[in-house]
Amino acid sequence: MSQRHDRPAKPPDELQFIYADAAETFERFDDLEQRLVGRYRRRLFTRAQGDVLDVACGTGSNLRHVPGGCSVVGVDLSGPMLDGARREAASLSRDVTFAHADAQRLPFDDDALDTVVSALSTCTFPDPVDALAEMARVCKPSGRLLLFEHGRSSVRPLAWGQDRLAPRHFENMGCRWNQSPEALVREAGLPVRRVDRHLAGVFSSLVVGPTPSDG
Ligand SMILES: C[S@@+](CC[C@H](N)C(=O)[O-])C[C@H]1O[C@@H](n2cnc3c(N)ncnc32)[C@H](O)[C@@H]1O
Repeated sequence: MSQRHDRPAKPPDELQFIYADAAETFERFDDLEQRLVGRYRRRLFTRAQGDVLDVACGTGSNLRHVPGGCSVVGVDLSGPMLDGARREAASLSRDVTFAHADAQRLPFDDDALDTVVSALSTCTFPDPVDALAEMARVCKPSGRLLLFEHGRSSVRPLAWGQDRLAPRHFENMGCRWNQSPEALVREAGLPVRRVDRHLAGVFSSLVVGPTPSDG
């Protein structure tokens, strides 16, 4: 896999190992996480329409926010995370298709989906710009990418703390938590339609493209 960008990245097999280990914790803390950021996820993902792809769906934290009329496919690199997502879909009585897939090689045709959603994911993809381009490829020109991401705080002392702890956090979780999700989207050449930042700017909701020529 090519790594075109000068940012730390873990290989997919190591990420699989890390997230296999973390899956149970993600499920256990889902209620707490939803209390913290569920309202931001809901505001963003209720915009989803039609055929929806959730990239790096994890244990399925986005599912409850995607409107019931949508048909949803969730993909992730980690089997145990996908197992958690299956349990979440069952508890919501949602008929969701899940597949094991790499965000940088999505097994979908060009322009196949109406909406591509992804949360807290570009921080771990080995090449997030490549993954964003891949999300745009599979999304119809009339569609949207909806991204809920975390990154470097807009509050200086907090950003300083993130910077200091970034190497350790990357080592443990393969997560670059002090990057700028908006800058990544721009680096991928995709138009940012809307950005809302939350909780000291640590979280961002982005409505994107999907194609530069989309107007
Ligand atoms: C921090 S979790 C976020 C999960 C979920 N989207 C959420 O909001 O809770 C990051 C997820 O990205 C997945 N992941 C990491 N690299 C990936 C890749 N290259 N392709 C697909 N999924 C990947 C991990 O397995 C993990 O489930």
